[in-house]
Amino acid sequence: MVLLTGHNKIKTAVFISGTGSNLKSLIKFSKKKVSPISVDLIISNNPKAIGLNYGKIYKIKNKIFNFKNKKIAEKNLLLELKKNKIEMICLAGFMRILSKNFIKKFKGKILNIHPSLLPKYKGLNTHQRALNNKEKYSGCTVHFVNSKLDSGKIILQKKIKINKYETANSLSKKILVQEHKLYPKAIFKVFNF
Ligand code: GRF
Repeated sequence: MVLLTGHNKIKTAVFISGTGSNLKSLIKFSKKKVSPISVDLIISNNPKAIGLNYGKIYKIKNKIFNFKNKKIAEKNLLLELKKNKIEMICLAGFMRILSKNFIKKFKGKILNIHPSLLPKYKGLNTHQRALNNKEKYSGCTVHFVNSKLDSGKIILQKKIKINKYETANSLSKKILVQEHKLYPKAIFKVFNF
């Protein structure tokens, strides 16, 4: 196994919009010697995202982009990524859809985590929809991002059982715990570790 030091790890930006619990788990992972990535930049479309606090705690640069004008936001975002020599992007609860043009610039280098067993339940409100359909299992998926929502090539999935008295809230909590383990594992897989 090749060990990467802080200097030769893959420079990664994590994009968030909210709580940032996956961001936290990715930062913790990136600090391990065995991690192929370092988290060098945090991007948010939401200035009130709670996850931005992890930037302060772990002293990682963060930048906010207003996506009301997506074209301008993405143009400035690409400049920021270039300035910071970012090579890979991890979407972690980022609630904006990136344009085809943006994705092309980072082709094969954008990952996303989604709280369902894709291709089932793309989009929002996944847990309630799974419960409404009386699914026995749900889970989470890490996948490459392409221009269609939650549709890129699947890297890894974790399946979990839905209990008899499950609610959308309890299911979300259970799956989130698994997400925090799955994202680092998927990154290892991407880099053939
Ligand atoms: C996670 O469930 C993730 O799968 C989805 O949005 C949620 C983000 O949670 N895309 P957090 O902000 O990482 O806590």
